[in-house]
Amino acid sequence: MDQFAPYLEPHTSGLRVVVPTRDRLSGRLCVVGGASGIVGSGICRQLLMEGAKVVALLRKPDQREGLLKECQGAPVDNLHPFVVEDVSHEDQCAAFVREVVQQHGDIDHAVSCFGAWWQGGVLTEQSYEEFSRVLANFAGSHFVFAKNVLPAMRKAPSSSMLFVTGGVGKRVLSADSGLATVGGAALYGIVRAAQAQYASGPPRINELRIYALVTRHGEMPRSQSSIVEGLRAHSNRKVGNVAAEALATAVDDELLEVTSERLDGVMLMVGD
Ligand SMILES: NC(=O)c1ccc[n+]([C@@H]2O[C@H](COP(=O)([O-])OP(=O)(O)OC[C@H]3O[C@@H](n4cnc5c(N)ncnc54)[C@H](OP(=O)(O)O)[C@@H]3O)[C@@H](O)[C@H]2O)c1
Repeated sequence: MDQFAPYLEPHTSGLRVVVPTRDRLSGRLCVVGGASGIVGSGICRQLLMEGAKVVALLRKPDQREGLLKECQGAPVDNLHPFVVEDVSHEDQCAAFVREVVQQHGDIDHAVSCFGAWWQGGVLTEQSYEEFSRVLANFAGSHFVFAKNVLPAMRKAPSSSMLFVTGGVGKRVLSADSGLATVGGAALYGIVRAAQAQYASGPPRINELRIYALVTRHGEMPRSQSSIVEGLRAHSNRKVGNVAAEALATAVDDELLEVTSERLDGVMLMVGD
């Protein structure tokens, strides 16, 4: 109970929640790519809870409302949604980074959390064009985001970039989704390449690899596919807490593997 003490205060009808900022990222500027997504929106919320200023990348202006809803209960004054239609277009991404630095200063942390999925048939029936398209969908936005954001990050030992990936790059989940594994593995390659480039100085480059089913807080999985059948769903806020922990504490080149069991052990604070 002690660990909740700073977040609770006595109230006549029991315990009342006070704004539970935990402040490990207080004053830090965090840029989150893929902020309208399941995982990205949960990360945005939990970074706000840690006191960060969050620039959240959306593709469309009408995604703002959804993100604000997802971030309910967090100090949203520190949330700065930013619309970039397609981050894999170099000119759009470069303009975004220029504007963020101009408006807010150097970037302390970046989270590359773009998602893609593919289940279009068995390997030998795919065209070269389809192969290229899948690679671009899975890895292209992470590549262009990293390419433009990394050089604009604060050169301080505390700064870091976190790539959010999935287990699909390691294991084929069904024969008709084989190219998803090709795309997922390409993303691992981008992380390793960035780690090699930044081996001798900041920012730290970390990977958070999820092997579990994650849904928006309080929601059931939307997809009924055989791949998710029987899997237990975990709140995106739990993943958000793991990501916040990684930004605050992970050392160089860390691979943080997030399994269902690991998420079972992640505490949601009162107010989360
Ligand atoms: N959710 C899970 O259960 C789960 C499990 C294991 C691993 N992961 C990993 O978590 C990461 C995020 O997945 P997710 O489930 O959160 O995916 P998601 O819900 O589909 O969200 C993906 C996000 O990326 C954005 N995006 C994709 N391409 C973009 C582009 N070219 N330019 C700008 N934005 C782009 C999407 O914007 P729009 O929505 O506007 O297209 C959306 O905000 C992925 O690496 C995934 O492998 C997720």
